[in-house]
Amino acid sequence: MNRRYRKTVIAGNWKMNMLPSETKDFVTRLRDETADCKWCDIVLCVPFTHIYQAVKAAKGTKIAIGAQNCHQAAKGAYTGEVSCAMLADLGVKYVIVGHSERRAYFGETDESVNQKVHAALEAGLRPIICLGESLEIRENGAELDFVRTQLKLALKGIAPQSLKKIIIAYEPIWAIGTGKIATPRQAGEVGSAIRETLRSLYGARAARGVSVLYGGSLNKDNAEAMLAMPDVDGGLIGGASLDAASLNSIIKAADQ
Ligand code: 13P
Repeated sequence: MNRRYRKTVIAGNWKMNMLPSETKDFVTRLRDETADCKWCDIVLCVPFTHIYQAVKAAKGTKIAIGAQNCHQAAKGAYTGEVSCAMLADLGVKYVIVGHSERRAYFGETDESVNQKVHAALEAGLRPIICLGESLEIRENGAELDFVRTQLKLALKGIAPQSLKKIIIAYEPIWAIGTGKIATPRQAGEVGSAIRETLRSLYGARAARGVSVLYGGSLNKDNAEAMLAMPDVDGGLIGGASLDAASLNSIIKAADQ
């Protein structure tokens, strides 16, 4: 973390878990436990069906609600899809874009990720752009090049003044849901490569303001060491975000 230049962000990603009827209690509990949180931005990315409840329960608290996906078009004949304007109208502030699960199971490409980043910004949402290599790429030592390329493609055509709205999440695929977390050194190294790339694209000043999160088997026991890295500015948390107490412990570690 480097609080001088950028926000620390702890974002939960519920994925396809929890029920709408469980949302209010969870958010109320998290709100009570995080009331004295000073430094950290807290985001909870819930399924579309939970958004209404989540926004209502989070009103007037430090918790912002995010979505886990969006469609890139403003509106139209896209049965079953949800636009960024719809999310913004509900009170959503953030949207995860390009999660590896969406890239792997739902045909998301670097091109559609880029289009979604544009759409999110246009609707006033803050995109949380997910990047990360497979185990095979890491074993070949190609992770830095891979992540740099993903980042450049995701940001294609994004104006410098929009950069401050963007959050990057480095999520190595081999660490997601596996219990096999990256070492702080590995995450810090990719975090620095991401910042270097931002610097080459947008200049040092803009680059240092961007929060770069780590995601993949982050929990209350390993969060502190991970967040001690200068280019790890927070976490995107899956499994451990399903329990309010464990998410709160990570927030506490980030808020010290
Ligand atoms: P886990 O924390 O369950 O490994 O998931 C990470 C993730 O994919 C968050 O987006």
